[in-house]
Amino acid sequence: MSSNSLTITDNRTNRTFTLPIENGTVRAMEFRQMRTSDDDFGLMLYDPAFMNTASCRSSITYIDGDRGILEYRGYPIEVLAEHCTFLEVAYLLLFGELPNEAELKNWVNEITHHTMLHENTKQFMENFRYDAHPMSMLVSTVAALSSVYPEARNVHDAANRLRQIKRLIGKMPTIAAMSYRHSVGFPYVYPDNDLNYTENFMNMLWRMVEPKYAAHPVLARALDILFILHADHEQNCSTSTMRAVGSSLADPYLSIASAAAALSGALHGGANEEVLRMLDEIGTKDNVPAYIKRVKDGHGKLMGFGHRVYKNYDPRAKIIKWTAEQVFEVTGRNPKLDIALELERIALQDEYFVTRKLYPNVDFYSGIIYQAMGFKPEIFTALFAIPRTVGWLAQWQEMITDAEQKIVRPRQIYTGQRTRSFVPMEERHGASMVK
Ligand code: ACO
Repeated sequence: MSSNSLTITDNRTNRTFTLPIENGTVRAMEFRQMRTSDDDFGLMLYDPAFMNTASCRSSITYIDGDRGILEYRGYPIEVLAEHCTFLEVAYLLLFGELPNEAELKNWVNEITHHTMLHENTKQFMENFRYDAHPMSMLVSTVAALSSVYPEARNVHDAANRLRQIKRLIGKMPTIAAMSYRHSVGFPYVYPDNDLNYTENFMNMLWRMVEPKYAAHPVLARALDILFILHADHEQNCSTSTMRAVGSSLADPYLSIASAAAALSGALHGGANEEVLRMLDEIGTKDNVPAYIKRVKDGHGKLMGFGHRVYKNYDPRAKIIKWTAEQVFEVTGRNPKLDIALELERIALQDEYFVTRKLYPNVDFYSGIIYQAMGFKPEIFTALFAIPRTVGWLAQWQEMITDAEQKIVRPRQIYTGQRTRSFVPMEERHGASMVK
């Protein structure tokens, strides 16, 4: 018997099973053979919120949460943030290797020529309520692109997939910027192909009457670094959504819309907006201890703290702190930084946070930089969705081409009643709609 195996005795039947261990993992389907009778379904694994379930094999992103390591295709995030542009990293995530000079030039050119939206799509966006949240608009508009590119549903055609991938990466900043301009009542700005990816995004957000927008190079590079840091993070909530929806063979626009919807929640990508609200609520450094006490007493969470995988400092948060210094040299220091630093200082010494291994995550400092750069909190999550689109697409492509993947369909433990007699209307007691 291989030592790389697990032996289990089912005490209900006294039968013993030996299951192979591969990559530190046992296949859940092996448990099905553990049955008490021929018509028994077999043993299932119960794992609410997928705390301990690997749903795929992936060669895109590696995280060691205990050591605070993040790598894309084997390259440490720190190295990529220092040496690469976002589109270079996008290429790496999607194709597995860093592009050479010619490949990068061609890739940048292709993405740049997919930044325009169809005028119909622009009109679609104009019809949202005047104060619509940019994420609501972004999710709906990406979904609407499915109607503009009906061929996208042919997900088994590699060339067709690549065309949609380029479109999505190109159009996402345009959609995010237009969603933002809509929410503040400004006319939409068309893309400028002379600018690089992040500069063009800044142009579409902030150009007013000047004929040509010139982004501050330090701020444009800072945003590019933030995009690199947010590009992928393996099987998080939104990526798992992308894979799950994509597994039904829904087209990539609809799958990205559902992933972006998952991202919008306050416990996921929506946390960066919530961090700013929290810092506003705290107001001054002196109020930090009282706020931490409130959290420990069970009133809310410290937003931007904690992570399902990182039980150490999030490596992205370290790079963001460094990037903040560069940004603040241009914009002046965001006073909220002092409150955030004090929160981090106190929390990292506090038994509650230490024993639970709660450290700042990527969202803790990103909002402070975004705000110093001139972004309003409502656009923060869309800023996350732009680069994460690359990760979602890389993971989607990997899923589609993985022969082991099927339509996602978890099991349940049924806890409701069984086969009841029908109750006529006059005999029903009713039930409260509020649980
Ligand atoms: N503040 C206070 N307590 C916290 C926090 C927090 N931010 N995060 C976790 N805890 C506590 C929990 O209450 C729990 O305590 P208990 O053991 O006494 O019940 C313990 O730490 C473990 O936390 P879980 O909720 O079980 O951890 P989980 O892995 O399910 O949640 C999550 C991870 C959602 C990120 C959580 O830490 C959280 O809500 N953080 C705040 C929101 C946030 O910053 N989200 C962004 C995450 S990064 C990203 O998605 C891009």
